[in-house]
Amino acid sequence: MRKASLNSPEPELNAPNGGPAVIDTAYEREVARMYDEKQNDFNLLLGKDTNLVHHHFGIGDFDRSPGALRDETEIQRRLHELENAQTERLLDLLDGLGPEHRVFDGGSGRGGTAFMAHERLGCSVDGATISRYQRGFAERAARERGCADRVRFHFMNMLRTGLPTATVDAALTNEVTMYVADLRPLFAEFARIVKPGGRYVLATWAVDESGTGDEIIAAIDRHYACTMHTRGAYLRALLASGFVPYHVAQMDEDALPYWELRSRSEHSDTIEKLFIDGYDTSSIAYLMVAAERIGP
Ligand SMILES: C[S@@+](CC[C@H](N)C(=O)[O-])C[C@H]1O[C@@H](n2cnc3c(N)ncnc32)[C@H](O)[C@@H]1O
Repeated sequence: MRKASLNSPEPELNAPNGGPAVIDTAYEREVARMYDEKQNDFNLLLGKDTNLVHHHFGIGDFDRSPGALRDETEIQRRLHELENAQTERLLDLLDGLGPEHRVFDGGSGRGGTAFMAHERLGCSVDGATISRYQRGFAERAARERGCADRVRFHFMNMLRTGLPTATVDAALTNEVTMYVADLRPLFAEFARIVKPGGRYVLATWAVDESGTGDEIIAAIDRHYACTMHTRGAYLRALLASGFVPYHVAQMDEDALPYWELRSRSEHSDTIEKLFIDGYDTSSIAYLMVAAERIGP
C-alpha cells in the first residue's frame, strides 16, 4: 500500500501509482456525495455561534419545566450544548493525552470534534473524511481558529489511510462507524496506525441485539444511508483486531433527551420519532467505548 505521511499531501481520488483510491466503491461514492451536499443544513445552523460544526447527536437533558425551551433559538442553543457535551464525554476517554500526542479522527466531518480535542488536550489532530467539501470547510475553520498547524484535515479513507504503522497515540471515531459495512477491516487499520499501548475511543449508535431485524433500525439505515452494527459486533471486532476494551458505557438514557428536544424544533422531520421509538423499545443502544491497543 502506498504510504502517506501525516505531513505530506494526502492520497488523491485516483491514486497515481496504482494504490487504492480514496473513494473506491459505489457505497463510498454515495456517502461522499451525501456529505458533499450537506452544506446549508441544520448542523451548520446549530454551530453558527461557536463555529464548531458537528454531525453527531447530543448527550444530556434539557429544562422540561412548563414554558421552558419553546422558542426555536433557545432550542437550537440547547441542542448545540448537548452536541458539545457529547464530545466532552468522548474526550474524557482521551484524558492524559497532551501537546506531545497525535490523534487520528476518523470521519472528521466539519471538524468540530477535532477542534475540541485540540483545544482541550493540546494534542495535534489529523482528521480524515471522504467528503472534499467537508475537508475544505474544516481546513478553513482551522485557519480561522488559528490552529491549522496542529489540526489538519485530509481527503482520506479511514479504511485505508496509507499512514505508516504505529503513527498515532490515539484514534477516535465520533458517530462514524455505521458507515462501514464490516467493522473488522476498519479496526484492523486503526490497530495498525495506533502505537502499542495507545487508545481507540468511539461513540456510536448501535443495535441492541433485541432490535436486530427491527423496522426502526432498517428505517434509520435508509435515512442516513448507513449500516448500524450490534453492540456485540463492536466488541468482537475490537478484540479480533488487537484492541482490549476497558470502558464500555451504554448511555441510552443520556442520548434520548436530545431527540425529544429536537422533535420540538421547526427543523424536525421523521428521524426524531425513529430514534425516540428505538430508545423506548430498546432497539437502539448508544455506546461509548475505549480500548487499548495491545501487542507489539
Ligand atoms: C455522521 S458524520 C460524523 C462526523 C464527525 N465525526 C462529527 O462527530 O461531527 C460521518 C463522517 O464520516 C465520514 N466517512 C464516512 N465513511 C468514511 C470513510 N470510509 N473514510 C473516512 N471518512 C468517512 C463522512 O465523510 C462524515 O464526515
